[in-house]
Amino acid sequence: MKVLIAGCGYVGEALGHELLALGDTVICLKRDTRGLGREISPWAADLTVPSSLMGLPADVTAVVFCAGARERSEAAYTSTYVRGLENLLSALGSAGAELERLIFTSSTAVYEHEDGRWVDEDSPAEPTARTARCLLEAEAITLRGAPRASVVRLGGIYGPGRAGLVERIRSGQVTAPGATLYTNRVHQDDCAGVLAHLLHAESPPPLLLAVDDCPVDLSELYRWLADQLGVAAPRASDSAPRGRFRTSKRCRNARLKAMGYRLRMPSFREGYAALLQEAEA
Ligand SMILES: NC(=O)c1ccc[n+]([C@@H]2O[C@H](COP(=O)([O-])OP(=O)(O)OC[C@H]3O[C@@H](n4cnc5c(N)ncnc54)[C@H](OP(=O)(O)O)[C@@H]3O)[C@@H](O)[C@H]2O)c1
Repeated sequence: MKVLIAGCGYVGEALGHELLALGDTVICLKRDTRGLGREISPWAADLTVPSSLMGLPADVTAVVFCAGARERSEAAYTSTYVRGLENLLSALGSAGAELERLIFTSSTAVYEHEDGRWVDEDSPAEPTARTARCLLEAEAITLRGAPRASVVRLGGIYGPGRAGLVERIRSGQVTAPGATLYTNRVHQDDCAGVLAHLLHAESPPPLLLAVDDCPVDLSELYRWLADQLGVAAPRASDSAPRGRFRTSKRCRNARLKAMGYRLRMPSFREGYAALLQEAEA
């Protein structure tokens, strides 16, 4: 398979190496390709500038879109996820590429429930946040964009280089929310693993939640981390969480399991334990 990874950052680069190991040919597109290994064929282009996308190879058969908007605003989301995706599909169409597979990395942020309920791929996503609505728009473009297209809604990504929470807990800078708030997490290794697994699946589902087995109350996660670090558990805030920080839902990963994917980091415990060990080493 010749795979174009559009927006090759934290997840995209890990995916690139995963796919190379599976024998795929990989092209990694981003604006600043310095620092990318030559083996994943860096391709410098800006998804928001159609002219920069001219000359893409016609023999690309699969695209994984995992560019990230530079800020959480409607303008940035529209530009990156909606226009960026449209520009890319149009450029590949003009190049004569015939996509067999197309994957868009969306987010569990499209579920805005606040009551800790379980959600899965069949649960309605009716976000009020404009940013989340942009994600839904890009999801719809994806599903029209190739015969076997899939949307993957990722939970909160963490892993090597994204362990700021650990340092903030260590230095006592974190306050626990004054309410039960579930967080759904997925390790970088599983982001790459799930996307590669999906790309190679015989019958890929159109929608997949990619989260670990263990939605966890934020306060419990903070206490667990504090315990591992041997520091005091963060104190609870006196005020109720506001805005997007109020959302609380538990995402089910049954469909992912049914596809035969085995999580490398089934919960925050394995994932953060690996990070803490690496930091010690
Ligand atoms: N972080 C999370 O917890 C989380 C949760 C759910 C879903 N997601 C989604 O998962 C995806 C992957 O996340 P990530 O953490 O890997 O993101 P990331 O590290 O921020 O990487 C995104 C990459 O996109 C590239 N990019 C951004 N705008 C671009 C443009 N206009 N043209 C070309 N390339 C562009 C950036 O490289 P250049 O700056 O060099 O162009 C960057 O390397 C994103 O879609 C994100 O929204 C993230």
